[in-house]
Amino acid sequence: MNLQNKVALVTGGGAGIGRSIAIDLAMHGADVMIVDRQSADQVIDEIKKIGRKVFAAQADVSSFSESSRAVAVTLESLCRLDLLINNAGINKDGVVWKMTEEQWDAVIDVNLKGCFNFIRAVAPIFKEQKSGKIVNITSINGLRGKFGQANYAASKAGIIGLTKTVARELGKFNVNVNAVAPGMVETEMMRVLPQDVKDKSISETVLERVAQPEDIAHVVTFLCSDYARHITGEVIKVDGGQYI
Ligand SMILES: NC(=O)c1ccc[n+]([C@@H]2O[C@H](COP(=O)([O-])OP(=O)(O)OC[C@H]3O[C@@H](n4cnc5c(N)ncnc54)[C@H](O)[C@@H]3O)[C@@H](O)[C@H]2O)c1
Repeated sequence: MNLQNKVALVTGGGAGIGRSIAIDLAMHGADVMIVDRQSADQVIDEIKKIGRKVFAAQADVSSFSESSRAVAVTLESLCRLDLLINNAGINKDGVVWKMTEEQWDAVIDVNLKGCFNFIRAVAPIFKEQKSGKIVNITSINGLRGKFGQANYAASKAGIIGLTKTVARELGKFNVNVNAVAPGMVETEMMRVLPQDVKDKSISETVLERVAQPEDIAHVVTFLCSDYARHITGEVIKVDGGQYI
């Protein structure tokens, strides 16, 4: 897969799955802009070692203005934009009868509105250049629901509706829009879960293991490549058979 001369923007690229996606895209030739609310210095060093150009913009994806500014900074520093990976996400779990308004709003704002903010900023660019790829990171819990995750599952289900709609709207401009739905992946988000929740996840997974961030990154790179040029509006589960 050859992504040379492509520029990718990865939200939440400072850690976890986003870090892995940024590195994998760079290994396949792309230059990268990392957007994260925390420092991305470590990932920047790793991508520089691969020999690709890399910049970072510190921004909160739930902010419309910070998101459009991050896209503008990408064009200023890397001169073009071809691939958008909406990966930044959070969870603030709790059963619905105890969930606070703050828990609900925070998760919807980062996970769902964050995707809209970046799609809104890149859509005119991709439309004009008649090319582009958008990959949104959802979750199997957006497909099946999950006890204690009304806010998270709703945000991830919303991403699926957003993906299918934007795929329809941008298809005639040669833009592919897809979603990747991981099951449990070994990152900080997973490490903070109670052990019994982790054990249950592994026991329901057909391949009897937790995914590594690279397992998700490889599928994202594929969707960004020409090998996937006839795939759009799709949700690809990468979950080891956790939700069949
Ligand atoms: N880890 C899992 O088991 C799992 C499973 C399914 C889906 N996902 C999804 O994959 C994505 C990445 O998850 P992860 O496990 O790598 O999480 P993580 O917590 O390890 O990393 C998330 C990254 O996003 C950044 N981020 C969070 N909120 C942000 C904001 N408002 N603005 C900018 N950056 C922000 C964080 O700083 C961090 O660098 C998320 O969308 C998550 O919902 C994760």
